Amino acid sequence: MSGNANLIFLLFLNILAISALNQEGLSLLSWLSIFNSSHSATFFASWNATHKNPCQWDYIKCNCDGFVSEINISSIDLCTTFPIQFVSFNFLTTLVLIGEIPCSIGNMSSLVSLDLSYNALTGRIPPEIGKLSQLQLLSLGSNSLQDGIPTEIGNCSKLQQLLLFGNQLSGRIPLEIGQLRALESFRAGGNPGICGEIPMQMSQCKQLVFLGLAETGMSGKIPYNIGELKNLEILSVYSANLTAKQTWWEYSKISWKLLELDND
Ligand SMILES: *[C@@H]1O[C@H](CO)[C@@H](O)[C@H](O)[C@H]1NC(C)=O
Ligand SMILES: *[C@@H]1O[C@H](CO)[C@@H](O)[C@H](O)[C@H]1NC(C)=O
Ligand SMILES: *[C@@H]1O[C@H](CO)[C@@H](O)[C@H](O)[C@H]1NC(C)=O
Ligand SMILES: *[C@@H]1O[C@H](CO)[C@@H](O)[C@H](O)[C@H]1NC(C)=O
Ligand SMILES: *[C@@H]1O[C@H](CO)[C@@H](O)[C@H](O)[C@H]1NC(C)=O
Ligand SMILES: *[C@@H]1O[C@H](CO)[C@@H](O)[C@H](O)[C@H]1NC(C)=O
Repeated sequence: MSGNANLIFLLFLNILAISALNQEGLSLLSWLSIFNSSHSATFFASWNATHKNPCQWDYIKCNCDGFVSEINISSIDLCTTFPIQFVSFNFLTTLVLIGEIPCSIGNMSSLVSLDLSYNALTGRIPPEIGKLSQLQLLSLGSNSLQDGIPTEIGNCSKLQQLLLFGNQLSGRIPLEIGQLRALESFRAGGNPGICGEIPMQMSQCKQLVFLGLAETGMSGKIPYNIGELKNLEILSVYSANLTAKQTWWEYSKISWKLLELDND
């Protein structure tokens, strides 16, 4: 160990000795120490190492047992990496952050809501996302994510909102989308690299209210059975190369609130 590492180690032991801060609090401070500066310090003034737990800290909410249930750092402009330290937070249900998406996200199995939208995320959506079986909201819109939508997304069977718009995703929409029976909103518009046809399986998502595929490279006919989706209110496919026969919606029982279709 170098002298510096020794010193840091001793300081860490010292923090352990003088404070009764719990493990989650220590994990949060350990993440903060990576990018702490006088700029970020003003936002994190409430993150006080002498507290017993982080429940009174800004951006943090706890459950009634004093474990972190929510981390929401969306309101500040930070430059940091994804906090791998949070993987050990067993009661986390909501995470709103900036950074990259690591494969170990799949270990955060209690996540109900994952909102990483309007950030600068790059790389792919890791297939491990399919391990998040409690997930109801996956919001990754307005980032720079690349590659395909992983087929494993079909394993997130409680998903209600799948928001992927405004990225650089490519490839076809996986057929496994049809396994998402609770899906109400699927928005993948603004990804010019997404191609192919709308899968027939989409019609199995009976709860679907919003289907957004505008400004993609998708083509072909809109499947007839999309007209069987009784809850569908918004079908947005403008500037995609998708076609539908006029009769398709004239005869469907849907009362369209908004049909954004600029082809015939
Ligand atoms: C963060 O930095 C500020 C000043 O730069 C310092 O006062 C504070 O103790 C630091 N906090 C942590 C958790 O390292
Ligand atoms: C941290 O909390 C202790 C006890 O609640 C308080 O005395 C101290 O001033 C706080 N430190 C900062 C930097 O706010
Ligand atoms: C996160 O915090 C922002 C700003 O305080 C708020 O608008 C947003 O609703 C929060 N998100 C969640 C999922 O709680
Ligand atoms: C997280 O999951 C990966 C596999 O995706 C595994 O290799 C790793 O040990 C797990 N990490 C923790 C902290 O559980
Ligand atoms: C997750 O999805 C993949 C690909 O769709 C599938 O092979 C696998 O069996 C699924 N795993 C679980 C636990 O459902
Ligand atoms: C649109 O799709 C049709 C086939 O459905 C194809 O012939 C045509 O070249 C496509 N146009 C563009 C601009 O991709």
